[in-house]
Amino acid sequence: SQSDVSRDEKLKNLCQLLSNNISYYDWVGFYFADHETRTLHLGPYVGAETDHTVIPFGKGICGQVAVSNENFVVPDVSAQDNYIACSFTVKSEIVVPLFVNGKNIGQIDIDSHVIDPFTKADELFLEFVNQEVAKLF
Ligand code: SME
Repeated sequence: SQSDVSRDEKLKNLCQLLSNNISYYDWVGFYFADHETRTLHLGPYVGAETDHTVIPFGKGICGQVAVSNENFVVPDVSAQDNYIACSFTVKSEIVVPLFVNGKNIGQIDIDSHVIDPFTKADELFLEFVNQEVAKLF
């Protein structure tokens, strides 16, 4: 329905809005699932550039959410064994799946430079954000 350019611009603006307004949201981005190849692909984001533009399902926090269909809050990334480090400055992470018509098509991924900043309120807020994002698909 909508062009990819328009959607990508909106998603990038959303990432910028979140990162500008929530002090502990230091990297904000979307990954999108390719269910054929069982990989996640980096979409619009703001924050440090990452080498991890393609992530296999099951790998890292993001890859685990692609399989579990559930929120994943990581208060301290150093305590995770299945974790893909992007930067030594990242201390914690939250990933919330993005559902369109009940299908997990990707996720919003947020990294923080502080330990244990994410609460239930962040989960509820990001679930709401993703429900709005789903309307773009
Ligand atoms: N840390 C993530 C990888 C993606 S970066 O945070 C942008 C993970 O473990 O899946």
